[in-house]
Amino acid sequence: MLLLNKIDDVRKNIKDWKEEKYTIGLVPTMGALHKGHASLIKKAKETCDKVIVSIFVNPIQFGPNEDYDKYPRTIEKDSELCRELGVDIIFAPAPEEMYGENKKLSNNEFTFIYPAYNYVDCMCGKSRPGHFDGVATVVMKLFNITKADYAFFGQKDAQQLFILKQVVKDLNLDINIISCPIVRETDGLALSSRNTYLSETERKNAITISKALFKIKELYETGIKDTNIMFDTAISILNKDIDLEYLEFRNFETFEKVNELKKNTLIAIAAKSGKTRLIDNIIL
Ligand code: PAJ
Repeated sequence: MLLLNKIDDVRKNIKDWKEEKYTIGLVPTMGALHKGHASLIKKAKETCDKVIVSIFVNPIQFGPNEDYDKYPRTIEKDSELCRELGVDIIFAPAPEEMYGENKKLSNNEFTFIYPAYNYVDCMCGKSRPGHFDGVATVVMKLFNITKADYAFFGQKDAQQLFILKQVVKDLNLDINIISCPIVRETDGLALSSRNTYLSETERKNAITISKALFKIKELYETGIKDTNIMFDTAISILNKDIDLEYLEFRNFETFEKVNELKKNTLIAIAAKSGKTRLIDNIIL
């Protein structure tokens, strides 16, 4: 396994792989790898001849008051896991390598990708203005650097997944986006690098987020479809110290809001437990 920090070094390897006609899989991450990331890497290994994992805490997707500085950085442990999983290249650039020295990371000085407004100006995009522009921009850069044939993303970040699929479609990019299911702890909590911020009590309260989602799915399976009933049920299950930011029901093909649940409805929650913002969802 190679641990590379420079774009040119990645490109040299890719050139050789392309000559050999190997298929290339990319797993973009911000590191602090857990079993959720590992499931994406395993899927990439099954699908592709060569696998690149990028580890980059992307400054342009964090808001000014968000956790960019304190985001966990655990490159040694991450490298160990990637080696065990048979990753071929870890690409872990410094911010200057991705965005140049002395750049003010704004659209006055740097080219951004702006995904369609309808998918960005809702859910996580409402409380995190500019977040998905930063995500789309870095992911497009990673696609161009790695020339991957497949890229693997978790359903955990459903809005991100939807937006990236849309960007690929709208810009006719020659890459297959593969969606991977959410990996959870045995108690239901969706794995996240940010779970490390949770105190014991905050973690216990956070479990009610997935409990609420599972209950909605259970009700749906008994024939209830009304989203108002689902909303009230969720509220009654969420711990009183959980600060709900949104609970939304959307068609995962069009991203339109729905009043009745059916197959392919996305049920998505964002909420804070203590100071930690968590997201989770299910797709029926
Ligand atoms: P990060 O939060 O590190 O997540 C990297 C990938 O792992 C994403 O596709 C995310 O959906 C997936 N993932 C996280 N937790 C998961 C879980 N419990 N089960 C399954 N998959 C999970 O998402 C990002 O980084 C960044 O926005 C990135 C796309 C790398 C761009 O900077």
